[in-house]
Amino acid sequence: MPSLIKDNHRRLVVAPMMELTDRHYRYLARLLTRHTLLYTEMLTCKAVIHGDREYLLGKDSQEGPVVLQLGGSEVATMAEAARIGEEWGYDEINMNVGCPSDRVKAGRFGACLMAEPELVRDVVSGMQDKVDIPVTVKCRLGIDRDDSYEALESFAKVVLQSGCKHLIIHARKAWLDGLSPKENRTIPPLRYEYVYRLKQSYPDVHISINGGIDNLVDTKEHLTRVDGVMIGRAAYYSPAILAGADQEIFSDLPDGYSHTADLQTLTAVARSYATYMQSWMDQGVRLSAMSRHLVSLFQEVPGARLWRRHISEQAGKATDALTLIDGALEYVNANYSAADKSQPFVQTTGTCASNTPSSSDDKTRVS
Ligand SMILES: Cc1cc2nc3c(=O)[nH]c(=O)nc-3n(C[C@H](O)[C@H](O)[C@H](O)COP(=O)(O)O)c2cc1C
Repeated sequence: MPSLIKDNHRRLVVAPMMELTDRHYRYLARLLTRHTLLYTEMLTCKAVIHGDREYLLGKDSQEGPVVLQLGGSEVATMAEAARIGEEWGYDEINMNVGCPSDRVKAGRFGACLMAEPELVRDVVSGMQDKVDIPVTVKCRLGIDRDDSYEALESFAKVVLQSGCKHLIIHARKAWLDGLSPKENRTIPPLRYEYVYRLKQSYPDVHISINGGIDNLVDTKEHLTRVDGVMIGRAAYYSPAILAGADQEIFSDLPDGYSHTADLQTLTAVARSYATYMQSWMDQGVRLSAMSRHLVSLFQEVPGARLWRRHISEQAGKATDALTLIDGALEYVNANYSAADKSQPFVQTTGTCASNTPSSSDDKTRVS
């Protein structure tokens, strides 16, 4: 199957995040935005080859374009995993050259490969030989003390010899010794200017920027300098920002959603997701494994805390997904008049909650 991904889709991308961007989250994200490109969590190439493929690679036809991210550094094994990924309907294969965890480093993949650009090039070439879909690389600015712009450019120069046309750059370096993966997402400073400069040096390469971007206004600003923006934590912990993406970022593409993040829209999304969850519950999947992705749908609006609490506390006991979600929605709905319900309360401007209805707060009780 040919890739569904067009360069336009790369304007906004939800980052790969282990234990977060599973198939259920991606289904939810797709209810919010038709065009934003989605990623899997990172899978090691060995897991793809030897593991439970249905569990690891299974995806819903409604997920639309999805990139499979692979971790590994053996040319033949990565190529075989890429082939399997294509067979399972993924639209692109991405190589992880950004993860700094000890486990990943011990396996000689992730960010430590920034020190081995020739190997990255060869792995990408090997994967390209096996698949017809694009193969891309997600990397850091550099590692440890090797963090100059020149080091980034020389890494890119070698990797691009593979014919790879797309780089996604987390705009901070990784410290491989001494910082945890979490600290490596906050402590090294963001240097967006390196990524902008790389784009100027390689105008024909599609370059996406990542790191610390949490709203669509900043996304649009970055898009004046680079081709794409990847959003990670904000897309997970404030998923409602995705509700405005089709209108704000992809307005020139047909078939996008024309909605914004207002109560009506998010209510409809939550209820559709409930139907989806129910279908999985009927096949034995725990409700809490899916409802966890919904807890942040409402942020900083009246009732949001009670919405979160209701889902977190009740998901383990509930037998019906829609009843759970309708119960939680009451906490939010109770605070809104009919007119408020279609007012967007999530940016395009920054953080949430510009439309906080008058006298209510999180303590509001639902009768
Ligand atoms: C919980 C978590 C898991 C992550 N897992 C991956 C992963 O599997 N592969 C990867 O390339 N990056 C991973 N990342 C890094 C993100 O893709 C992204 O580069 C990083 O969070 C910076 O973007 P942000 O500031 O928009 O969150 C992870 C980040 C988080 C928070």
